[in-house]
Formats: sequence, C-alpha cells, structure tokens
Amino acid sequence: MKQKYYITTPIYYPSGNWHLGHCYTTVICDAIARFKRMDGFDVFFLTGTDEHGVKIEKRAAENNTTPKAFVDNLVDSIKDLWKVLGISFDKFIRTTDDYHVAAVQKIFKQLYDQGDIYKAEYEGMYCTPCESFWTESQLVDGKCPDCGRPVEKAKEESYFFRLSKYQDKLIELYKNNPEFISPKSRMNEMINNFIKPGLQDLCVSRTSFKWGIPVTFDDKHVIYVWIDALTNYITALGYGSNDDSLFKKYWPADIHMVGKEIVRFHTIIWPAILMALGVEMPKQVYGHGWLLIGGDKMSKSKGNVVDPFVLSDRYGVDAVRYFLLREVPFGSDGVYTNEALIARTNADLANDLGNLVSRTTAMITQYFGGVVPNNKAAEDIDKDLISLCESALGKVRADVEKLLIPESLGEIFRLIQRANKYIDETMPWVLAKDPEKKDRLGTVLYNLAETIRISAVLLAPFMPATAQNIFDRLQLGKLPNDFASVKKFGGLKSGGGVTKGDALFPRLDMKKELAELEKLAAEQQKSSADVKKSNANKNEAAAPTGKESGEKEEITIDDFAKVQLATAKVVACEKVEKSDKLLKLTLDVGGESRTVVSGIAEHYTADYMVGKTVVIVKNLKPVKLRGILSEGMILCASNGKDVVFVSPEKEIESGSGVN
Ligand code: MSP
Repeated sequence: MKQKYYITTPIYYPSGNWHLGHCYTTVICDAIARFKRMDGFDVFFLTGTDEHGVKIEKRAAENNTTPKAFVDNLVDSIKDLWKVLGISFDKFIRTTDDYHVAAVQKIFKQLYDQGDIYKAEYEGMYCTPCESFWTESQLVDGKCPDCGRPVEKAKEESYFFRLSKYQDKLIELYKNNPEFISPKSRMNEMINNFIKPGLQDLCVSRTSFKWGIPVTFDDKHVIYVWIDALTNYITALGYGSNDDSLFKKYWPADIHMVGKEIVRFHTIIWPAILMALGVEMPKQVYGHGWLLIGGDKMSKSKGNVVDPFVLSDRYGVDAVRYFLLREVPFGSDGVYTNEALIARTNADLANDLGNLVSRTTAMITQYFGGVVPNNKAAEDIDKDLISLCESALGKVRADVEKLLIPESLGEIFRLIQRANKYIDETMPWVLAKDPEKKDRLGTVLYNLAETIRISAVLLAPFMPATAQNIFDRLQLGKLPNDFASVKKFGGLKSGGGVTKGDALFPRLDMKKELAELEKLAAEQQKSSADVKKSNANKNEAAAPTGKESGEKEEITIDDFAKVQLATAKVVACEKVEKSDKLLKLTLDVGGESRTVVSGIAEHYTADYMVGKTVVIVKNLKPVKLRGILSEGMILCASNGKDVVFVSPEKEIESGSGVN
C-alpha cells in the first residue's frame, strides 16, 4: 500500500489583489505534492480560502453587495490564478462551505461543553476603526498595533479558549518533536517571544459583526478567526461530518506550509485546539520566508506588474514557477526584482536547458534525419554523464525531503549543465565529418537525448508544462506519473523520432523587457490613479500652504495624528541610476514590502543602509521619482550640512508605530 502524504497551504484571505508573494507558498507546496506523487506517495494536497471577518463585511457593504456574493467573485479569481500556475490541489476548501460551517459549530460546542471554551465579560483596549480588542501587552506605546491610533477601554461579552492551560503541553510537544516547528530558528522565536512570557486565553467569538459562523447556542456571537480558519485542515477531510474516511486516511498532516508571520497561529493555537479535541498533532509546521517585492509595486493601487498573471502570460508559467522555486533560499526572505526574473530565465532556462534541447534535437535532425540513433558501447567520457543521470533522482529526493527546494532544482540543472559540457567535450560536429565515426556520433547524440529525457521527468514536478514540452519534442507522449523510468540510464528507445521546434525559452532582451514592464506598471498605475484623482485634488486644494518665511504654521495634535509614522527595516538598497543624490530602499514595514526613494546617497552608501531600522512617513501619497514609485519618506535630521537618518534607540519590530 502507498504511504500517505498530507500537505496544506494556508487558506487565503480573498483580497483579489493577488501578487507574486501570494503564489510562493502554493507553488512550493504544488512542487512538493507533485514530487511525492511521482515518488509513490498517496498525496492529499489542500488549499482554499479564509472568507469570514469584519473586513470582508465592510468591503462588501462598500460595494453594495452581500459578503457571500463578494467573496464568490474573489474566490473565482484565486482559482483562476491556481489554474494558470498549474496548481494540482486535491481539494479547495472555502470556510463558507456548508460542511465546514457545520463542523466548526460542532467543534465549538464540544469545546464549550468540555470547559475548554468559556464565556466571560471581556474588558480590554478597543480600537474603534479596526474594531479590534487588544491586550495591554499587544499595544505598541499604548496604541493599536495595527493602525497606531489611540485605543480605549471597552467591554464585550466573548467566548474564550483556554489557551493558557496548554502552555506546558506545548513546550513538551516541541521538545519531543524537534522537527515540529521548522526551520529551527522559528521554534526558539515561539518559545522565547510567546510561550515564556505566558499564554493568555484567546478570544474566539465576536458580537460586533455578523459575517462569521454563528455560535449555535448563543446567536449574538459569531466564531472569530482561530477556530474557523485553523480547523479547515481537518474539516476538509471530513472531520466532524458523517463521513470522516479521508480524515482517518490522511490525518495527521505531514506538513503545514505557512509564511513566517503565521507560524505562531499554527504552532501555538492550532496544536492547543487539537490537544483540546484529542486529535493527533500535525507532523510539521514549516514557516517559510517572504518574497519581498524589491521592484516597484506589490498591489494594484501601486501599479502591480508583479502580477503573476502578467508575468506568466509574458514569460510562460514555468519561468514564474522556476523563479519562485529556485531564487529564494527556502526558509529565508528574498527580494523580487524584474531584473532577477529575467536574468534567471535567460541563464538557466534559455541558455542551459533551452540550448541543450535545441542543440540536441537539431543535431539528431541534421545527422540522423530526426531519428534517435542507436546507443553503442559507452566510452569513458560517457560514464560520468551516465552516472550523474542515474544518481540524480536520489539527490533530488534527498533535497526535497529536507525541503531544500532550490537545491533540488540545482541538482537537475547540474545534470543539464553537465550535458552541455559533454557536447563541447565530444564535439559531435567534428565526429559528423568522419564517416567512420558515425556510430560514435550516434552514441553521443543518444546519450544527450536520454539525458534530456531523464531531466524532463525529474523537472516534471517543478515545471510540468516544460517537462511535457520536452517530452513532445522527443515524441514520447504523456509524461510518466512516476520516477521508475529514470532510475536506469538507457530507457529511451532508439528509432524514435524527435521534433526540432522553437526555443523552449527565447532569450530575453533585458533592457527591452525592463522598459516593457515599466510601461505596463505605468499603465496600471495610471488606471488606479485616475480612480483616486478627484479625491486627491480635493485634498490638495484644502492642504495648508505654510508661511512664506519657511516657519511652519502651528498645528494641533489632531493634525499631527494624521501623519502615520512607523519603523521599517531596510531589506535591500541600491543607488538610483544616473543620480548622485538618490538611493532606492526596499523596506519591510511590519511584513509589507515598500520601495522608498530617498535623497541620502551623498551621506550614506547603499551597503551601509541594508539591515538598518529607519522611521518612515507611512501614509505619504506615493510619488514617482526617476521612474520609481516611492511609497513613503525616510525621516532624517539635518543642520543644513549633515544629514543623519532617524532610528529607534533599541531594536523594535518593523512596522511599529512612532508617536
Ligand atoms: N488567512 C490566513 C491564513 C490562515 S491559515 C489557517 C492568511 N492568509 S493570507 O492570504 O494573508 O496569506 C496566505 C499565504 O500567503 C501565507 O502563507 C502568507 O505568508 C503568504 N504570503 C503573502 N505574501 C507573501 C509574500 N510576499 N511572500 C511570501 N509569502 C507571502 O494569512
């Protein structure tokens, strides 16, 4: 019987502004799921959408529609995205699905009946604009940690989950299962930052909005995020329904893949809920890093060419998949730039892979009329290539097992590069000149075609469309659904045909592509700017002008409160081309990536700025400087001669409010 493998992505908030960062978790899970399927596992790959909450309720009202109709639309758009990217999920769960709603209500009632959920009068600090309660320890300088605005004491009747009860059990779980939180650094973060300071019971219901799953025994309340969202991983398998056969088969999850900002929910709250339910723990929660958008934009309002639809359409879906899987060391953050995508595509896909396929098929066409020649005795020079082919699967498997995803692709590309070198070493065009070397020429070209076949099968989980395309050129029909055919060199049949075809990945002209992407960005930006134009005009007309002397007018505390200041970490920095004064900084502002152009190049080098914490004006209207959209301003002190940037006196998380 096949061994089961259950892999999940987080369920996505249906925002609609899908960017490349959103695709990261899902493309990685897809590659792993496809690999495991081909490697003989019985895989269940789950993804879906997280659809309840006050934000959706408000956005639906703004759009004069119901929350359900509003999310239906957005869910269709994410399904389209997964279709474009070739995501092979086995199930797509929506938290509005009937079976999920019923199971969540059942779980909530069970936890209440057994005393793990209790009702209390919640007195806490309330942020009215965010409609959120915060504990004292969550406040930043006494203000709302989300929006930085003042909070006030308020009371609300709520249900609470006894998270505090599970503190010791969680520590025990981590100790007994060192792989439970991966990478390891994230485990220390959880213990030191959250468990050691003490876990507080968790508010799990709300009465201030309606768009949620109702508590069956108290209809004033809807169930708030945790119990609704996290339980999707088991309700999707039928837990809490009449048919829990999938749950029995696939649970526990082998891996919950999540972005680093939601590791806490998955490694503290989720296991505690499962402990309360008496359900087995998942085997591993992997917190990957973020793809920071170091180029221009990350959302529609900022002119979004880091739009996966645009990039897939322009460069092919596999160029996008390859970039996501290969570029960022898995577990760490990485920066997206248009340059990096184009450079990767050119170097690895057009040069290494594309050239190998086109040179080989062209030579088989030219020298053997498009028929795969016979494979005669191997010479020493062939043996290295053959042994690399036969050991490749083992190496790729070992890397995938350790979630070394870029490295696993690295192994396959080592094989591809070796084959290109083999062409240079064997020089088929020289062999072709000597009729006595016809057999040797045939063997060399056979070895190359066979290496390409093996590479295609190994690439199938990562770049399925390209792998199939290569198979078509070798006239081999459908890709196999297992790895059996790559264990031994020689599976390719002599006498079969090859097709020459266009370049797999045409070489991209860096300059032209960058200009094209910039143009697309500008068009998108213009359309969103047009929508906002009238409002902006009104604001500008009303803006205070200041005194002629340069002395600024007095302002009230309310005026000052309009300026939203926040700390930000410099993730990347470079000089703006053809400018002595400007640096382009990529900032992490509490998980959001921003680009800010700052006139500090005469005072700081780009290298010096990387890793520094700065303070930015977060709600400054974005402007284009030298063609780069600058989304905020860095605060600096100046005496007219020296300029120094302002930085908090101690380390504090990026995105912290400054008041
Ligand atoms: N709904 C919650 C998850 C609940 S799971 C029980 C959520 N949704 S999300 O839409 O905000 O994020 C979905 C996934 O996308 C997360 O894993 C998140 O880390 C990932 N990404 C969103 N932007 C990202 C980048 N820029 N880079 C990499 N992944 C990021 O959180």
